[in-house]
Amino acid sequence: MPAAESTPAAAVPAPAGGEAPIVVADDVHRTFHIGANRIDVLKGVSFEIQAGERVFLCGASGAGKTSLLYTLAGLEKPNLGRVLIDGRSLYQLSRREQAKVRNRRMGYVFQNYSLLPELTALENVMVPAMIGGRSDRGRAEHLLEHVGLADRIGHLPPELSGGEQQRVAIARALMNDPAMIFADEPTGNLDSKTGAEVMDILLNVVAEEKRTLLVVTHDTVLAKSGDRRLELVDGLLVS
Ligand SMILES: Nc1ncnc2c1ncn2[C@@H]1O[C@H](COP(=O)(O)OP(=O)(O)O)[C@@H](O)[C@H]1O
Ligand SMILES: [Mg+2]
Repeated sequence: MPAAESTPAAAVPAPAGGEAPIVVADDVHRTFHIGANRIDVLKGVSFEIQAGERVFLCGASGAGKTSLLYTLAGLEKPNLGRVLIDGRSLYQLSRREQAKVRNRRMGYVFQNYSLLPELTALENVMVPAMIGGRSDRGRAEHLLEHVGLADRIGHLPPELSGGEQQRVAIARALMNDPAMIFADEPTGNLDSKTGAEVMDILLNVVAEEKRTLLVVTHDTVLAKSGDRRLELVDGLLVS
């Protein structure tokens, strides 16, 4: 990593060749305190992801994968170290600016779908646009068609299967046309056939638009379908 002083505060646009990394973790540490116990979950994680790369993050349960994804996605500040998004140090931005980066540049897919149960599939997909002050119903419909749910747009989440709910969540993550998508074990709650279908959809929508993907999975077979694999062991990356 270049020294911090050489990184300008303003956005650094990616050169035409796309060499500037879109995501950088620079010596990221994450520590939790529970009572008198201190848990060092991330112990200095550094890596870069280039725009358009599809990266799989593997590691045992409790290895710190979710903590790392949260930190990269602007949801949890690291105790030490930096996260650069588009060349800007995320946690040095104002809270308002951080929220803007999250809303406009990132999509997030959770293991448990995290759909709002009282909103229809269509309304759930529209949520990120509404947060950003827009409401593009046509795009939401198009995205739901794209993930194979054209005939489910008026359904509530409890009326959908796990695989269908996760496809709604993928459409929602794409709503604001984000450059990067973080997906945390998106197939973890699905049977293996449905999981493979959902992963296929995710990889395809990412590839079609040359988006960047960082996806956590336990499944080492699935992980082979990415461009690169990172492995987290005991708070450090080993590959
Ligand atoms: N908010 C928190 N408070 C305390 N400990 C936490 C918190 N979040 C995660 N941890 C601990 O950090 C470790 C890594 O958790 P996590 O990042 O969820 O791992 P993974 O996603 O790889 O299973 C676990 O031991 C977990 O108990
Ligand atoms: Mg996890």
